[in-house]
Amino acid sequence: MNTATTEIAIQILIVDDEENILRSLKRLLMNEEFEVLTAISGEEALKVLSLNPDIALIVSDQRMPGLSGVEFLEQSKKPAPDATRIILTGYADVNAAIDGINRGGAYRYITKPWNDEELLRIVNEAVLKFVLIKDNQRLTRTVKKQNEELREWNSRLETLVQEQTLEIRKQNEELRGLNESLRNNFKNTIFAFSGLIELRDVRAASHSKNVAELSTKIAKQLDLSGDEIQAVSAASLLHDIGKIGIPDILLAKDPDEMKPEETDIYSQHPVRGQTAIDSIESLREVGIIVRHHHEWFNGGGFPDRLSGERIPIGARIISIADFIDRTIRKLNGDKAFELTLKKVKEELGKRFDGKLYPLIETPARELYDRILQQTGFIEMELNPKDLQSGMVLSKDVISGTGILILRKGMKLHEKNIDALRRSYQLDPSASGIFVMVEK
Ligand SMILES: [Fe+2]
Ligand SMILES: [Fe+2]
Repeated sequence: MNTATTEIAIQILIVDDEENILRSLKRLLMNEEFEVLTAISGEEALKVLSLNPDIALIVSDQRMPGLSGVEFLEQSKKPAPDATRIILTGYADVNAAIDGINRGGAYRYITKPWNDEELLRIVNEAVLKFVLIKDNQRLTRTVKKQNEELREWNSRLETLVQEQTLEIRKQNEELRGLNESLRNNFKNTIFAFSGLIELRDVRAASHSKNVAELSTKIAKQLDLSGDEIQAVSAASLLHDIGKIGIPDILLAKDPDEMKPEETDIYSQHPVRGQTAIDSIESLREVGIIVRHHHEWFNGGGFPDRLSGERIPIGARIISIADFIDRTIRKLNGDKAFELTLKKVKEELGKRFDGKLYPLIETPARELYDRILQQTGFIEMELNPKDLQSGMVLSKDVISGTGILILRKGMKLHEKNIDALRRSYQLDPSASGIFVMVEK
């Protein structure tokens, strides 16, 4: 019998009231690797079981004084639930055999007198059954324990992963915050710089900001990287920073009306601008865009007379946005936007890169509509009797016969209001009187 799977000795308990049967059975099992225990009654056998609960096999005679074999086997289930049971019955005692199996939980019955060889075979089989049950139980316990350990490991691992994820997320947030504040500091610095030129040149109020909004929106429609878009945005804010070194009288002039020597000085502002920011390493690319914002697509601009695609894309964008903002300020009126776009169109391929034109109209309209709304004035047609001092004409006032009475932009005061009222009675205006009034 191979009992290698269990390391403890296999115990067998034989119960019979006849000593000679006990002896002969013990002898028969002598050569097997079992420890054979005996008891001469059911009562004594129960005591043996209580001391040896791991007994593998119980072989019990049926006919005994006191507890019968079936009764003893039935009671033995409590102290030794896993033991295999065999009942020994008389040759003709079929009922006892059936009872032994049904009530006593016997695995087999053996009739007396037995065949030695067969009895040994049955005993070995019964022991093997016990061993298998025990092995199975041990395996189940091991699997259960390992499962529990695994579950515990899993939950520990999960906790660990969660903790580390939280830690990483926290560090990421800190880094993001740090980056954000660095970026904000940087942005604020650029804003502060760009505001400097507007302090010098009041006519340029919000010019850099408008150019930046327009340029960034154009850049975003092109296939540019995030860094390139940021460079365009920063360069727009700083594009005229070089004007700080230009005398006030010159700053007040329209570049198109400058004398040649004045144009020479004015033309230095892109290079001065680049020089001013070139010492800041992260603004070096921005400096290059600033340098070229007055180049023309056909090579007619300054300072380097670059042409076509050799002009950095950021500079080509700013060139258009800069022109739009300056022209719209100069024209200033209800047709200003359309007229400006017309002028841009005329310069496509000459001053400006034609492929950018389709990208400018929508963002430009958005920007200047908003600015118009923010000024806090709306245009209204009024009756002459409702005109008041301080109102500003938003359109030329032309008499019914076509004479220009007052120009657009004129501020009204008592005298010209009187004149207007008089002319209105004689020759009523066909165009109406339009003024800008506060909303
Ligand atoms: Fe400029
Ligand atoms: Fe400009």
